[in-house]
Amino acid sequence: MINEEQFKTPLFDAMVALAESRKVSFHTPGHKSGKGISTRFRKFVGPNIFSIDLTTLDEVDSLQKPRGVIKESQELAAHAYGADRSFFLLNGTTGGNHAMMLATCHPNDQVLIARNAHKSVLAGLIFSGARPIFFSPAVDKDLKLTLNVTVADTCAAIDANPAAKTLILTTPNYYGITADLEAIIPYAHKKGLMVLVDEAHGPHLSFHPKLPISAMQAGADLSVQSTHKIIGGMTQASMLHAQGGRIDMTALATAIRFIQSTSPSYILMASLDLARMQMATEGEKLLEKTIKLAKEARSRINRIPGLFCFGRDTLKKQYPSEGGGFDVTKLTISVRDLGLSGYRASRILNNDYHIQVEMADPLNILVIISIGDRRDDINRLMEALREMSKEYHGTRSPKPLSPEVGLPPFGKPTWITPREAYFKKHESVPFEETSGAVCAEIITVYPPGIPLLIPGEIVTTEVIDYIRQMDRLGATIDGLDSSGNRLSVVKRQGHITPDQT
Ligand SMILES: Cc1ncc(COP(=O)(O)O)c(C=O)c1O
Repeated sequence: MINEEQFKTPLFDAMVALAESRKVSFHTPGHKSGKGISTRFRKFVGPNIFSIDLTTLDEVDSLQKPRGVIKESQELAAHAYGADRSFFLLNGTTGGNHAMMLATCHPNDQVLIARNAHKSVLAGLIFSGARPIFFSPAVDKDLKLTLNVTVADTCAAIDANPAAKTLILTTPNYYGITADLEAIIPYAHKKGLMVLVDEAHGPHLSFHPKLPISAMQAGADLSVQSTHKIIGGMTQASMLHAQGGRIDMTALATAIRFIQSTSPSYILMASLDLARMQMATEGEKLLEKTIKLAKEARSRINRIPGLFCFGRDTLKKQYPSEGGGFDVTKLTISVRDLGLSGYRASRILNNDYHIQVEMADPLNILVIISIGDRRDDINRLMEALREMSKEYHGTRSPKPLSPEVGLPPFGKPTWITPREAYFKKHESVPFEETSGAVCAEIITVYPPGIPLLIPGEIVTTEVIDYIRQMDRLGATIDGLDSSGNRLSVVKRQGHITPDQT
């Protein structure tokens, strides 16, 4: 049953009413409802958008100190997501991860972090001064994919680190594979840990029963979602949800205030107000269509020679002990048997068929199906995939599997926290000569974006070799200097040994 109050959009309504009142503005933004905007810009997007590009005014409330329509909109979001409080974020889930860590992790606090964390979580370590203890997600050797963390590995990490105060998980992962939160969260809570979830890829989960359970529904203390990635938020618009008594809500609100602009975009906030309304009032219907489109697409892809798109059944076979689920709207398409890398397939789709995918990795392309997709779009993708199959299947040998099978190698931990490493003196060194040095940067290979080195970890030859191999395959390496050849490391003042404890 739809709750009638969820049809309300208090912030958007107040913005439209203010725009229509045509009050004379002697305040920011300087374009004054579009009168001062470049003509080309106005011609392309039309005039209305500028009339709602507002600033903090009584009629439309203040994000820094919400008392009116923003407060009301955030409360509606909290009800829709089953949270005690929800906060609008205008620097994406990146900002939300920073805020949740600033609010909950103190300098030197031990934090258990699943290694498939986004770099914003690692930056959160630098901001907070917390001490990370990483544990790894599982890997599927047949699918050649990083899954999510298992219940057994997570509980073992909790048991092995009784001083840890916080557990940070990233679920769903990029491929839609979730951790079994219903098993993990109660265990973590029993052991006295707070559970924070980077749920960037899950703002739709709570609105359809066929999708995996959301972090809030599973009892997480905090979750951050990129509303803009999957549902109707505009780019950069995310939400942070909080529940329960473990979180100091005042500290959380303060941290969020510190990381947000004092000139927040009302257009982005309105998109959050409307995206919540849309999901709460017709999300199940829209997602039903999306799931149906994704399922049909998956079975059509699996009938094309040389392509394979795993589904829930394959995952169940490979990951049998896990109650963790799978978001079926993510299509990971293996192009290995076409003899192409995912990177090459992605370029062919873009250049020859004008189809852009979310990401590519050495063996796969990832397609996101969302409430914005129509059957025609799917048909175009199928047509292109069939033509690619005709051209490449059987004419080239399948891609070799190394080095991308299994988890990548990571830097070796030391007792230097990421924050300490960040604030030490650094030097820029040719990457190939950094083995044994303490990294001062976050090095991530995209995709899938798992950090290989973080500040405070020792660089190893295995990591260097892996990064160079991935570079040659066409992956994006993030964290080296602009030439791609040098790495910032902590200036050496003696020998530092890896932490063996
Ligand atoms: C798992 C994960 N967390 C956080 C982020 C950052 O989200 P945003 O782009 O909303 O800042 C991303 C972005 O890709 C992500 O994949």
